Amino acid sequence: MEHIENSWHLARPYLDEITQQFYRLLFTLAPSARDFFPVTLQAENGRVVRALIRVLRLVNRPDDLIPVLQQLGRDHRKFGLQAAHYEAVGTALLGALKHCLGPAWTPEVERAWAEAYTLVARSMQEAAADAEAEAVEPPYWVGTVTEHHRLSWDLALVRVEPEEEIPYHAGQYLSVAVPQRPRLWRDLSPANAPRPDGSLEFHVRAIDGGWVSRAIVGHTQPGDVWTFGAPMGRLRVDRESGRPVLMIAGGTGVAPLQAIVDDLGRWTDNPEVTLFYGDHYWDDLYALDQLQSFAASNPWLTVWPVVEEPGSVPGVEEGTLAEAVTRRGPWQEHDILVSGPPAMIEATVAALIRTGVHPSQINYDPFLAM
Ligand SMILES: Cc1cc2nc3c(=O)[nH]c(=O)nc-3n(C[C@H](O)[C@H](O)[C@H](O)COP(=O)(O)OP(=O)(O)OC[C@H]3O[C@@H](n4cnc5c(N)ncnc54)[C@H](O)[C@@H]3O)c2cc1C
Ligand code: HEM
Repeated sequence: MEHIENSWHLARPYLDEITQQFYRLLFTLAPSARDFFPVTLQAENGRVVRALIRVLRLVNRPDDLIPVLQQLGRDHRKFGLQAAHYEAVGTALLGALKHCLGPAWTPEVERAWAEAYTLVARSMQEAAADAEAEAVEPPYWVGTVTEHHRLSWDLALVRVEPEEEIPYHAGQYLSVAVPQRPRLWRDLSPANAPRPDGSLEFHVRAIDGGWVSRAIVGHTQPGDVWTFGAPMGRLRVDRESGRPVLMIAGGTGVAPLQAIVDDLGRWTDNPEVTLFYGDHYWDDLYALDQLQSFAASNPWLTVWPVVEEPGSVPGVEEGTLAEAVTRRGPWQEHDILVSGPPAMIEATVAALIRTGVHPSQINYDPFLAM
């Protein structure tokens, strides 16, 4: 592990060069892999190389990593990969790191990266092969958009009806490709628990300069066909544990928590759930009305709105979610679910740990982001 960390520390400033070299090598070794990636690689923006490196740096935590790799392997069935693609990705990644590290790429360093990649690729391929053998899940799902309307100028609600039911559980997310941006996959979380008709509701916020989110908010229309990979993620509530639950949602990160709350609504004897829901401005809290009216008829749920802008609404929690939540603690007895932009997750998790919460109490997705 030390070899991976030390060499990554040296290679990190050259990530752009590593990415370029990775694709050069990959498309030479396996030209057919070009078809999996978007026409403009600029739109891919080094996501895959960053993801690969993040995963390989976690191989010393197999208990956490293996379940994630199993989901990722199932998800990657959407590409129709062969063993040769996995080999080519490994060779290209190691070749790109070697190119960049020069003499620091010693045999020990090479062995460490190669072993990590083999373990990761094997777990993903085994999970994909198991899914293949079970033959209960297709490699991907398609669904038709039945509704698209704006909840605010930069936020859209999109309803999709899959042809075949997608076997997700409330709190999970799906990798999605939309017709306006072919082969650019983005993660989105259904905001509803699975329904008898299989329909999914998504809340998508247009990010400044974002390739996919702006296309969805601005140009999606009924009749569009969306493609989905296998469900991923580990946010869930253990109703049997008897422990109270703390949920912390930033922005559209509220969607998977809404889905879990929606699911819990099937029971009356739920654990006590406290949901902090925050954003920059009061008007950004688009899901608040719905959550508050749900809480009014489900006494196990308490909702705390939080806004960063001071003085916007009297009596409302102010500050970042990390500040608001730690002010209202302690949370040492709770199971904790955090959902939102990566920076918000990172700040909130760090603040909770500083107040004495044990890391094992906290869950967030994607696990690979941190
Ligand atoms: C597990 C998971 C679940 C998600 N669920 C949802 C969801 O339900 N609804 C939803 O709208 N989005 C959700 N997202 C975010 C979504 O996957 C995309 O990352 C987001 O829509 C931006 O994609 P893009 O192609 O528009 O931006 P890109 O073209 O990928 O990025 C453009 C620029 O914006 C930056 N950026 C990317 N995302 C953000 C962000 N969230 N905040 C600030 N800057 C950002 C990038 O670093 C880049 O500089 C989820 C993400 C994850 C990991
Ligand atoms: C060890 C093996 C692998 C791991 C750990 C891995 C991991 C990942 C992860 C985490 C993502 C999501 C990235 C994000 O959205 O931020 C991703 C996306 C992707 N992966 Fe893999 N992957 C592996 C192998 C492969 C292989 C063999 C191929 C094909 C040659 C491949 C092609 C892709 C593509 C095309 C995307 C989508 C890129 C985009 O839309 O931006 N992956 N991978």
